[in-house]
Parts: sequence; structure tokens; C-alpha cells
Amino acid sequence: MFFLDYVGNRLLIAVIGGIHVFINHPLAVGAYPLVALMEYWGFRRKDAEWDTLAYRITFVLFIITTSVGALTGVGIWLSTALIAPFGIGSLLRVFFWAWFTEWLVFISEVILVVIYYLTWKRWSAGGWKKVHIGVGVLLSICSLLTMVIIVAILGFMMGSGSWPADRSLFSAVFNPLYIPQLAFRTTYAMMLAGLCAWFLIFFFTQKRSEFRRRAVRCVSIWILAWAAPFVGAAVWYWNKVPAVMQANVDVGLLTQRFMNWHETFALIIAAAVALIVIAAVIGAARPRLVPGVVLLIPFVMGLWLLGHFERVREFVRKPYVIADYMYSNGVRVAELPVFQRDGVLTYATYVSNRTVTSGNMVAAGRDVFMVTCSRCHTSYGVNGMMSKFTNLYGREPWDADAMVAFVHTMHTTRTFMPPFPGNDKEAEALVAYLKHLQASPELILGAQADWLPKPQAQQKPSGGS
Ligand code: HEC
Repeated sequence: MFFLDYVGNRLLIAVIGGIHVFINHPLAVGAYPLVALMEYWGFRRKDAEWDTLAYRITFVLFIITTSVGALTGVGIWLSTALIAPFGIGSLLRVFFWAWFTEWLVFISEVILVVIYYLTWKRWSAGGWKKVHIGVGVLLSICSLLTMVIIVAILGFMMGSGSWPADRSLFSAVFNPLYIPQLAFRTTYAMMLAGLCAWFLIFFFTQKRSEFRRRAVRCVSIWILAWAAPFVGAAVWYWNKVPAVMQANVDVGLLTQRFMNWHETFALIIAAAVALIVIAAVIGAARPRLVPGVVLLIPFVMGLWLLGHFERVREFVRKPYVIADYMYSNGVRVAELPVFQRDGVLTYATYVSNRTVTSGNMVAAGRDVFMVTCSRCHTSYGVNGMMSKFTNLYGREPWDADAMVAFVHTMHTTRTFMPPFPGNDKEAEALVAYLKHLQASPELILGAQADWLPKPQAQQKPSGGS
């Protein structure tokens, strides 16, 4: 597909997953408890302004979580099943009952948020208010539960603990990274929800009003209360990340090209966290001193940080998609020797050429590229082969032998790449395909590429593989 060959498979999953996390953490996991607390606070103090603020924030949560939030949740399934069917298949087999439960909890969460928002006004009198607050608490629990289940799976992908030995669901769930990562995400989601509430306070309360002052103060205290456990959880989590993965962080943070900047970058991240904390300290002590715009910026900073946490987490587990079990290209570690002996095309599911002959080098090479490299590379777009090999070997016609040697050994020096899972002939075919692309820049520009849609066909929504 034209689009995917430019943007890249992993970026597609990353964009959908990223949007989902941006919504799930601040607007669901963290925000439901915060609005339920605001509602309760308003009820106890008989302060209608708190109730109105909580109601308005809930409106935003309700609209965003039930639309973009739910859609991107499904989008993760679609994109991962499309791009990494073997990875998602393996996870499904291990976590079937966990995911089944998560699905029930998720449906309950959607029903509860609908009830919570739509009954707000109707259930405001008498004993009904308590019932309504109860719905908010239940909603918060369901939302947290979905994360409690999903993080087990995310942790498993980074370290499978004793699962390879006993293959039990219990060991899979209680993998070494599970609880630290859960603590990290939960505390950060709570902080983010506070930052998001700050953001919304800017729109939902009156400038210089007494209530804005109180709201800023209370939400700042909420942020500060979570900040210390967050920093503790972050250190705990980091220390549980296996050393080989920690070593990947340099490239993970900033790509190979900028990896030498990673120390500066780590400082920027620490500074961003510090700035958020300082803003919250001022907000708690002297809410009037916080100018309106300051309410808007930390939320954006918080999301930016969250994006980096996810990016790094996804990156550091390379070359595996499931630690020590399956490589990112969908090849199981145990299968690797067989593939290298018999050829990866022999066993691949979606290829046109099963064997490499002198007549099909380029076509078979393209199949090899799709099966072994395209999870992470495009041919000429993001993280594209053309620019990567040009960096290595320059603009002159590339030396085929050197490239074949590179393909066979690339995983030893660039440990984030899996070993090439094919045989010698397939490596030669892959190189023939890459050299063919290099020799035909018009393919790269897209003018006559047989693997790109023709200009008129490009308008159609589907077609191509
Ligand atoms: C698990 C994902 C993954 C797979 C699969 C993968 N690569 Fe990579 N590769 C990367 C990453 C990440 C980089 C570094 C990108 C950066 O930061 O610039 C990279 C870099 C490279 C580079 C540049 C190395 C350098 O030092 O400049 C080449 C060449 C390359 N890959 C070729 C391949 C080939 C050929 C295949 C298929 C046989 C392949 N890769 C499979 C992830 C992968």
C-alpha cells in the first residue's frame, strides 16, 4: 500500500496507539476519579460551583472517550492484527481470559460513563446524589481495571518472567515489569488528569474569580500528591527494565542520528517534570499568581512526555515484539534456525515467491523485504531503506557483497534489529531488490513504480496489498 510504504507500519500502530493513550490516561483512568472527587467535594461542602465544574469536565470526557477513545481502542486491534498478526495471535493465546474480562469491563465502563453524564442533572436531588457519586466511583474502578489488565500484557511484552518455563497465565500476568509499570502509569495518569483539569479550568471558570483560585489550588494539590509516588514509581520501573533494553534507550529516545544528544534530552525530560511540579507548587500556595496561560501549557507538556514514554517503551524491547520469544518481524526465536536453513519465504503466509531463482531475484527480494524488514522500515519513506543504505554506502551503486554481509550480521552491532531470518539466496535477493530501487530513482519518486498505485488509481480508497 502506498500510504504504508511511506509512513511505515510501526508508525501506523504508533499513531493510533498514541492517540488512544493520550485519551485513556488523562481523560479516563486519571480523570474519572478526579471528577468523582470534585462532585463529592461539592456535595459535602454544598458548593454548587464544584458540581458545575465537575459536570462540564465530564461532558468533555464523555464526548472524547466514547468517540475517539473507543475508536482508537478498536484501531489498535485492527492495526496490530494487520501488521503483526503473529505477535497479537500469540498474546491472545496467552491472555485470552484476561482480554475477555477486559472486554466486559470496557463495555461496563462505556455504559457507566453514559449513565454518569446523562443522569447528572436528574439525580442531583435528595438521596440520588449519593447514587450518582457511586456511579462515578464505579466508573473510576472500571477504568482503572481495564488498565490493570492491559498493563500486564504490555509488561509481558518486555519481560516474560517465568512464563517460558511454566507457560501459565499467572506467571504471564505477574511478569517482573507488571507492577512497577502499573504504578508508573497509574500515578502518571492521575497527574495528567490534574493537568488536564487545569487546562479545562481555564475555559470553564471565570477569570480572576474566587472559584478559579480555589479550583486551581485544589487541583494543584492533587497533582502534587501524585508527583512523589510518580517519581518513585518511575525509578522503580526503570530499575526493573532489563539492562539490554536500557542500552537501547539512546537510539529509542532520538533515533540513531541524534542518539548522542540523549543526555541533553534526558535533561529536557527531567526539566519538563520539574516545571510541572513547580507550577503545581505555585498553584497550591499562591493560586492567584498563576497566569491563565500557565494553566494551558503543562497539559501539553504532560502529553509530550507521555508520548516519549510510550515511544521508548515500544523501542527498547527491540529486537523482540515479545521478549525472548518472538522477534519484531513475527519470527519466533525457536523458528529462526529452521527459517535460516530452509528460507523464510518457504514458510511465509503472504508472499508471491516461495523460492529464489535467477529469474525472480527482484520480485522475491521484495517479498523478503516485506517479510523481514517492513515491520520497521519503509523502502523510501520514514526509516526508509534508501536513505539508510545511502548513509552507509554513499550514492554510488552499492556493493552487493558488502550489503549481503551487512544483512547477515546487522543484529550483532545494531542490537535493536532482529537477525536476518532467511538463507543466503534470500539475502542476495533482498539486496538485488534494494539495488534495483537505488538504480531506478523514478520508482522512488513514484512515477512508474509497479508497486505504487497508478495516478488515477490512487484516488480509490482500496486496492494494492
Ligand atoms: C525490529 C525492527 C527492525 C527490523 C525488523 C529491521 N530493522 Fe533495520 N533498523 C531498525 C532501526 C530502529 C534502525 C535505526 C533507525 C535510526 O534510528 O536511524 C535500523 C537501522 C537500519 C540500517 C541503518 C544502520 C546504520 O547504522 O545506519 C539499515 C541499513 C537497516 N536497518 C537495514 C535493515 C534490513 C535490510 C532489514 C531487513 C532484513 C532490517 N533493517 C530490519 C529496526 C529494524
